[in-house]
Amino acid sequence: MTRDANADLRGPHKIVILNPKGGCGKTTLATNIASYFALEGTPPTLVDCDPGGYSMRWVDKRSADRPPVYGIAAYDHCESSNRPLRAFPGSRQLIVDLPAGLTPNQIFHQTYDADSILIPVVPSEIDIYSAAKFIADLLLVAQFDRRNRSLAIVANRTKHYTKSYRMLMRFLRSLEIPVIAEIRDSQNYVHAAAEGIGILEMPHYRVAKDIEQMERMFGWLDRWRTRRLDGLIAEEIRRLPDVEVTDTSLTLSH
Ligand SMILES: Nc1ncnc2c1ncn2[C@@H]1O[C@H](COP(=O)(O)OP(=O)(O)O)[C@@H](O)[C@H]1O
Ligand SMILES: [Mg+2]
Repeated sequence: MTRDANADLRGPHKIVILNPKGGCGKTTLATNIASYFALEGTPPTLVDCDPGGYSMRWVDKRSADRPPVYGIAAYDHCESSNRPLRAFPGSRQLIVDLPAGLTPNQIFHQTYDADSILIPVVPSEIDIYSAAKFIADLLLVAQFDRRNRSLAIVANRTKHYTKSYRMLMRFLRSLEIPVIAEIRDSQNYVHAAAEGIGILEMPHYRVAKDIEQMERMFGWLDRWRTRRLDGLIAEEIRRLPDVEVTDTSLTLSH
């Protein structure tokens, strides 16, 4: 399956949040990202692929005087359809909250046209073990190409840095997958979820410590076109034959 890079860069920014493990923060990231883009002025589309419906519940709780977020319940679609998901007309972001336990094939169909893919990982031993296995599957089985610079990790609930957390970081560095934010464990996320808002919509004095890391993640998302172009340029350069400059002539070597 191929993508038209120019058309993609003009269309909505597709952001997919995934990790087959439940409870690692997918819905927390999806709703906070939706809130961020809603505050920017254009209603984003938030697609809930989890039959649990937690993102949709968040949209339903959101009060009508908040900047709007369009919610789509797409549980069946994400399970059984290979057709691409679509944003509401006018939305500039399509944010997809995936459920736990998708097969590599389903993951492939939900991610192949994504501009940004975020994997939240909680630094507990069991979560790190399952994240390492999942990332290996993503690269090997789902044939995900990390060179297009769309994949990043968000470390979530980083209360303590364990030995296994350091091992995860080493593993990710070896795969050249960036860790773009480290989100602390904070009840602010629980309260925000209960009210249908993001932490950017809470009183600043309560969330000052949380906002810095969230903003690193939003900054990375905002650079999606630059990342895609960097990836395409790097791909073109890789395809060029090596050029060796000698004293008298240019020599092409393959
Ligand atoms: N950084 C955090 N600090 C405190 N609680 C969190 C944090 N991230 C997520 N949670 C809470 O953990 C629970 C699971 O998070 P959730 O985003 O629903 O995970 P997932 O969608 O991956 O199953 C929720 O109750 C959520 O409010
Ligand atoms: Mg969820």
